[in-house]
Amino acid sequence: MPLVSTKEMFKKAYEGKYAIGAFNVNNMEIIQGIVEAAKEAKAPLILQVSSGARSYASSVYLTKLVEAALLDAPELDIALHLDHGDSFELCKQCIDDGFTSVMIDGSHLPFEDNIALTKQVVEYAHSKGVTVEAELGRLAGVEDDINVSAEDATYTDPEQALEFVNRTGCDSLAIAIGTSHGAYKFKGEPKLDIPRLQRIQKLLPGFPIVLHGASSVIPEYVDMNNEYGGDIPGARGVTEELIREASQYGVCKVNIDSDLRLAMTGVIRRELSNNPGNFDPRKYLGAARSAIKELVTHKIYHVLGNNDKL
Ligand code: G3H
Ligand code: 13P
Ligand code: ZN
Repeated sequence: MPLVSTKEMFKKAYEGKYAIGAFNVNNMEIIQGIVEAAKEAKAPLILQVSSGARSYASSVYLTKLVEAALLDAPELDIALHLDHGDSFELCKQCIDDGFTSVMIDGSHLPFEDNIALTKQVVEYAHSKGVTVEAELGRLAGVEDDINVSAEDATYTDPEQALEFVNRTGCDSLAIAIGTSHGAYKFKGEPKLDIPRLQRIQKLLPGFPIVLHGASSVIPEYVDMNNEYGGDIPGARGVTEELIREASQYGVCKVNIDSDLRLAMTGVIRRELSNNPGNFDPRKYLGAARSAIKELVTHKIYHVLGNNDKL
């Protein structure tokens, strides 16, 4: 089975009021853990690659690993997506490499410049049958190399979102309603601006919304990291309830990376600490892969609700 487009996936998710997990991938164990979980749960899947992942693993290794996943799980619907593309050239490269979806992130640009850049990518992507995610509004935290302070983070304006989508022709829109990237999302109680999301949905009925920074920062894995030599105090994510609520109002794609990182690192720390004599990477990487599978299975059944949707 070839890679699929996100178009049909999002249409079904929107109507069914569930979300597709978009998981960041950087190596073989992460891809295998995610794919195994999706396979067993019969869940459509987005594997996403950041420019950092491309620099780390190189594009060809990642695309070939995803090709292997398709051979391993031909029954699965998998879309391959560029996460936080920062230029037309990078988006074009990924489209030419066979990605079925790209994100052009012009959220740091003035409104008109964001529109112009997004339109340029949409024009090329659509000529090749590829869908485009854009972003309007700014998340707090670290986006690629740009550090956005909480004060600079601006939530998405619903009227502007309508104008942006109409003028760019993008296929989905990432919005800022209170999430942020990384493991430190909230100092106090986790909170999302759900009324703002509802206003956006009302203005853009049927249009898929994307939520970045959607990791829950699962306490069990934060504690595991800290117990076995890590130092990540006070990490806090979005609650699972808030993500489920968002998927009732047009959020069709939920981006998860930090939770994978925390699970993988926590388990590797634990394995190395508990087995000081081991120097076979397959032992701790295998345990990390199983943790990724368990984590993604939990997300599918308890957060995204996209099990049995193939
Ligand atoms: O939004 C950022 C993602 O978590 C990807 O992170 O750019 O370090 O690969 P990265
Ligand atoms: P988290 O840091 O919450 O996992 O968000 C990941 C993300 O938005 C990738 O684009
Ligand atoms: Zn993101």
